[in-house]
Amino acid sequence: MAARRKLIVVSNRGPVSFTRDEDGNRVARRGGGGLVTALRSLVAHHDVTWIASAMTDEDRTVAEEAGGDAIEEVARDGSLYRLRLVSHDPAAYDWYYNVVANPTLWFLQHYLWALAYAPDIDRGLHHAWDGGYVPVNQAFADAVLIELDAQPDASVFFHDYHLYLAPRFVRDARPDASLGHFVHIPWPEPNLWRVLPEQIRRAIHDGLLANDVVGFHANRWRRSFQRSSRDLLEAECDFDSSICSWRGGRTFVAARPISVDPSEFEELAESEPVLRLEAELELRRPEFLILRVDRTDPSKNVVRGFRAFEFYLDAHPEMHGRVGMLALLDPSRQDIPEYAEYLGAIQRAARMVNDRFQRNGWVPVDLRIEDNFPLSVAAYKQYDVLLVNAIYDGLNLIAKEGPLVNERDGVLILSENAGAHEELGPWALSVNPFDLEEQAQAIHAAIDMDRGERRARLEAIREYVRAHDVGAWLETQLEDLDRWSAKAAR
Ligand code: G6P
Repeated sequence: MAARRKLIVVSNRGPVSFTRDEDGNRVARRGGGGLVTALRSLVAHHDVTWIASAMTDEDRTVAEEAGGDAIEEVARDGSLYRLRLVSHDPAAYDWYYNVVANPTLWFLQHYLWALAYAPDIDRGLHHAWDGGYVPVNQAFADAVLIELDAQPDASVFFHDYHLYLAPRFVRDARPDASLGHFVHIPWPEPNLWRVLPEQIRRAIHDGLLANDVVGFHANRWRRSFQRSSRDLLEAECDFDSSICSWRGGRTFVAARPISVDPSEFEELAESEPVLRLEAELELRRPEFLILRVDRTDPSKNVVRGFRAFEFYLDAHPEMHGRVGMLALLDPSRQDIPEYAEYLGAIQRAARMVNDRFQRNGWVPVDLRIEDNFPLSVAAYKQYDVLLVNAIYDGLNLIAKEGPLVNERDGVLILSENAGAHEELGPWALSVNPFDLEEQAQAIHAAIDMDRGERRARLEAIREYVRAHDVGAWLETQLEDLDRWSAKAAR
């Protein structure tokens, strides 16, 4: 493990968020989603100051009490880190998160639009950009600059699509700073970016190219970014060395798939809450359990997953009563109409399968809409088939987490459009996420596969994930930063 060093981690969602319970006591809740899950272990190994948005009223109170300074926080494993919560103007934050970042950038980068119908680039988007995305990024950059004043030798590590502009603001003020940015979601091909107004798409690329290193989970996203930087910005990108030169600086573009902390999962798998929930699951589980664990995000392709299961049940009446699909879905971004509608579509699709097939107490789809991490880990242990059929996904950590703790030689069905497919493809059953028939057949193939082959595939994934854990990912990130921080070159 590399020596401890000073890191300023910057992400919209922080590792914890505060609320008050019924008795008025302050409680901290773990932040959800892949990014925070993966980065949590960072604080054990380095001196981390984490800068994140204050999202709840209680977060804002915490920020106020701190008088604009960072607070000391204790991670689950007891390590200390500093947390600086940035309180934004609520209207600006709403524009940034609910108009630009999620329904626009996330949708664009996951190819979620049917372009004949959406998006309309109207005055609303321009307002949201100028009055939301830009000032919130500026506020993040200001917080970084305050931290850099106090710890000038710290490296700054930006994350994700919420923060494409902040690196340029920091770079302009601190030409020598060591800046890295990790994009956890796909990078689409250049022409799709042309949906956005020129000034916006250029600002996004210009902001990212203010970093010394820009990382992606997969080579296909890395290559796309280089192509779009060249096509839309006329940056000079050398595909062999993976370096883009722009405005006198140079940026190394890396493919560095993130991973998990295997020991954390192995420990969790034996923890009391997980064992209790597992016992409950075991009591009621079908003979063959197909599992999916996701946020209720349109990119996760939950509705097609249910339809594929329906096709499978149509083709295999002999399996009725013996197989079930458990869908553990964390309700996500429900202030955004597209997400609220998608949750409705998920519920309707599950209902349709159940109405068609349920009998004698057998309910084929068990749909649970809740954020329950211990239950997900319990279900990871119990699945026979893990379905990850995302439309597009930067990586997909579920595909790594599940196999680590599974105890039934479970088979992974994996979308060819998930970044993790570049690593785990050889041991998974690959599917085209749009091809329902292929997914139905993959479910059959997984259930039908002989035990020896299932075990060999599972063991291979496990071995791979153990050898490429989140610790290794972090070390590589830091090596990249050290190597490419162009202190003198700017
Ligand atoms: C994905 C994104 C993260 C995001 C997470 C949860 O993993 O890459 O940046 O934090 O989803 O989404 P939310 O909007 O709830 O933060």
